[in-house]
Formats: sequence, C-alpha cells, structure tokens
Amino acid sequence: MENYPTPHINAAPEDFAKTVLMPGDPLRAKFIAESFLEEAVQVNSVRNMLGFTGLYKGERVSVMGSGMGIPSIGIYSYELFNFFGVENIIRVGTAGGMSEKVKIRDVVIGMGACTNSNFVKQFHLPGDYAPIASWKLLEACVNKAKELNLNYKVGNVLSSDTFYGDDGCLPDELKGNALWAKMGVLAVEMESAALYMNAARAGKNALGIFTVSDHLITGEATSAEERQSSFTDMMKLALETAIAL
Ligand code: HPA
Repeated sequence: MENYPTPHINAAPEDFAKTVLMPGDPLRAKFIAESFLEEAVQVNSVRNMLGFTGLYKGERVSVMGSGMGIPSIGIYSYELFNFFGVENIIRVGTAGGMSEKVKIRDVVIGMGACTNSNFVKQFHLPGDYAPIASWKLLEACVNKAKELNLNYKVGNVLSSDTFYGDDGCLPDELKGNALWAKMGVLAVEMESAALYMNAARAGKNALGIFTVSDHLITGEATSAEERQSSFTDMMKLALETAIAL
C-alpha cells in the first residue's frame, strides 16, 4: 500500500519538488509562493498547512508551512522525507538573538541545533546526539550568502520547546539563555533540531536559515518594515540555495 496521502498531507509524491522551503506559518508559505514563485499550485490543504509548488528561475521548488515547534515540524518533515520523496528541506524562520555576536536583522545559518526537547530519545542512542545541518546545503547556502553580500553568521542555534520559559526566578547567570549563550549558541527558535534529526535518520538533507527578529540580551525588536526586508534577504538566500543544489 502506498504511504500517501497521509493524515497530514493530501498530495502525491510528484506534487512536491525535491527541495521544500518551510516557514513556520502556512500563510507565509502562501505569501512566498505568490511573491517569489511562478506558476505556483497549491499541493496541501490539510489543517490549512498550506503547501505550494512552483518555479523559481525556471526550476521547481516547493514551499509548505511547518507549524510551530518540534512535534509539528517533526510530523511534516518526516512525511515529506519518507513518503513524498523530498530530498532537501530548508527551514526559513525567525529566531531570537542570544549572543552579542548577532544583531537584529542578521541572517543566521544554523550549522547545528541544540535542543531541550526529548525528540532524540526515540532513536535510543547510547549517548548525546549532535543535530547538524547537511554540509551540501550549508556549503551552498554560505556561498550564496557571500555572493549576495548579506550580513550572516553561521553557528549553533537552540531549538527550544518553550517560548515562555519559567526561569524568571533564577539568578541571571543560571537562566537558560545565559547558559546556552556561554556555549556560543547564537539564537533561539523552536524547530530545527527535529528537522536535522529526521533528515539524518532518513538519509536526506536539511538546513535552517533565520532572520533575527528580536534580541534576548539587548531587548531590541525589529519593526514590521525591517522584518519584511530581512525576510526578503533570507528568502532570496533560501531560493538561490535551493536551485544551486
Ligand atoms: N524564542 C523562540 N523562538 C523564537 C524567538 C524566541 O525568542 N524569537 C523568534 N523565534
């Protein structure tokens, strides 16, 4: 029996390109399809987790929402890799800056993704796993970021299970953000570690690219206009990476 359609994606494998860009927000997927792709057709509608396939500079590329958090991207990336023949997933999202090394509006390219989630436990590993981006995607992306002259940083991010952490009662040096920042982690988001693990397990490729939308140390936040222009930079980078593969 075929493994599609699945409970979450009512499409067939040929509906997806080999590379899928995944923003968290399904309406953002629609916006990307309408603004950056030609001849885009909608390929998923289950739970309004909108997915589209179209052409970027003449090459097929798909874009679909992942939802927020590790369980959500865990489901969609698993199905895309294992049931729909997708080879590469590039997450495109926002992240909170955790290090003095990154500034708001910077593009962060996630070489690795630490996590406080239990997602890794399902693999029954006899030690700690290091979720990392696929070199093929990372290399292509960094080359494009140089070409496009973007302000980018490559490094570790944190995929957190919580947006509203309850560590306010702790002294500053024991708060989670400070401890991760001490280990050189650049920014916090909520999905990439699961994406990297699913890609590794399936023998496929994944990468997360982020714009820094707010900063947890400096307290700065981006205006709507700034978010739009750094979003456009990130999207160009992701699309150029997709067609370079
Ligand atoms: N925490 C988690 N995810 C985020 C944040 C944050 O502060 N900012 C943007 N995505």
